[in-house]
Amino acid sequence: MNVLVIGSGGREHAIAWKLALSPKVDAVFVAPGNGGTALEKKCENALAGVDPETETGQMILADFAERAGVAFSVVGPEAPLASGIVTAFHSRSLAIVGPDKKAARLEASKAFAKAFMAKYGVRTAASGEFSAIGAGFEDALRYVKTHFSQTKQPVVIKADGLVAGKGVIIANYFTEAEMCLRSFMKDGVIGDAGRTVVIEDFLPGKEVSVLAAVSVRNGAGVIAPFIAARDHKRRFDGDMGPNTGGMGAIAPVPNFTEAAQVDFRSLILEPTLKGLRAENVDYRGFIFFGLMVQDGRCYLLEYNVRLGDPETQAVLPLLDSDFADVCAAILDGSLTENQFAWKQGAVCAPVAVAGGYPGSYRKGDLVTVNGAAPDGGELSPGVKLFAAGVRLQDGNFFTSGGRTLAVSAYGADTESARSNAYRALESVRFDGMDFRKDIGR
Ligand code: AMP
Ligand code: GLY
Repeated sequence: MNVLVIGSGGREHAIAWKLALSPKVDAVFVAPGNGGTALEKKCENALAGVDPETETGQMILADFAERAGVAFSVVGPEAPLASGIVTAFHSRSLAIVGPDKKAARLEASKAFAKAFMAKYGVRTAASGEFSAIGAGFEDALRYVKTHFSQTKQPVVIKADGLVAGKGVIIANYFTEAEMCLRSFMKDGVIGDAGRTVVIEDFLPGKEVSVLAAVSVRNGAGVIAPFIAARDHKRRFDGDMGPNTGGMGAIAPVPNFTEAAQVDFRSLILEPTLKGLRAENVDYRGFIFFGLMVQDGRCYLLEYNVRLGDPETQAVLPLLDSDFADVCAAILDGSLTENQFAWKQGAVCAPVAVAGGYPGSYRKGDLVTVNGAAPDGGELSPGVKLFAAGVRLQDGNFFTSGGRTLAVSAYGADTESARSNAYRALESVRFDGMDFRKDIGR
């Protein structure tokens, strides 16, 4: 069969690579893909310049899926999902892995997600929702004032809409919170996405990402969780510096205990599933639970309606099931809760970023592996380079994005995966290259 992957990041490289490993898959088209998918076996980049967030772009993608006779398409990033690409494909009877437009609101609107969590009893931080209309801004200030009069804990202010990771502010003092609320709600510094905000209690703890496959339709279905992963969002070692799209991931998470996993299932996964069934959505795709874990108790910080980046680059190499079969099971409703087989061992995937990232960064630097052009394959057995902000030109890789690539290394345990990953990363070079040295520590 032929399949289509939509997106251009490291996550999409990992998805395309894993699909291409299936003996049932003849060709993987990646729209638009990146330098890594251009070199990947059985993979071919397509439709450069087509915007999957617009109706026209979605029509072009659907035309392509039809013409290329793809068995199904898989959507990587959130923005096309939020703008309804799944619903557009369904209207043309094309199979596509992702939530419909209504279910995509679980990520596209924090207020919608919090209301869903409250309605179905998903454990999460206490919160209030405020809109810039009417007295919403003054109400938000009052809410924050009351908060700080009762506790010394910070508050977390979240823009309602999608802003590519720039919509969450942790405020330690009233004045900080006020400044943030004013800039989001009054000044519109992040556009309409910030006119409505969710203000929630700060939760201390350790973050865990649980990715899962979802097959829910006509009020029935299941969620099948993957092994847990951990992203490292801060730019610098020791979790210092600004937030980024993700500086590296490990899987599984060593201290995510059996008890915490049971807690996650009963207080987060099951109520979420109940809600998806009750809301009658067509959600045949992936979901990402962003958890805060405190003393074995899990709280849901957010849903993403897709796989995580870079968690996918750490989790998929450990999957011991045929990924094309997984997608087919999601789509035809045969997915079971224990669908997946996992390899023993661990994966560590540090991300190499361009100089300046996450501020404005360098582009166009030559990337070499052991002094030569990468061949797209494994760097060594069990060590894979997943390209992200990298384009291919005349057989060479050049940087084109802030998060440039991840080196994803397998090991018998986290520590050996770490040392394999960092040894392999030494063979990768580009001017301005930097990475965190403590992924998985
Ligand atoms: P979100 O997009 O909601 O996951 O928020 C982005 C990041 O902000 C999370 O990965 C956490 O690091 C942090 N965060 C969000 N909500 C909270 C919270 N209630 N308490 C502490 N940290 C949070
Ligand atoms: N790793 C977090 C995300 O994909 O949003």
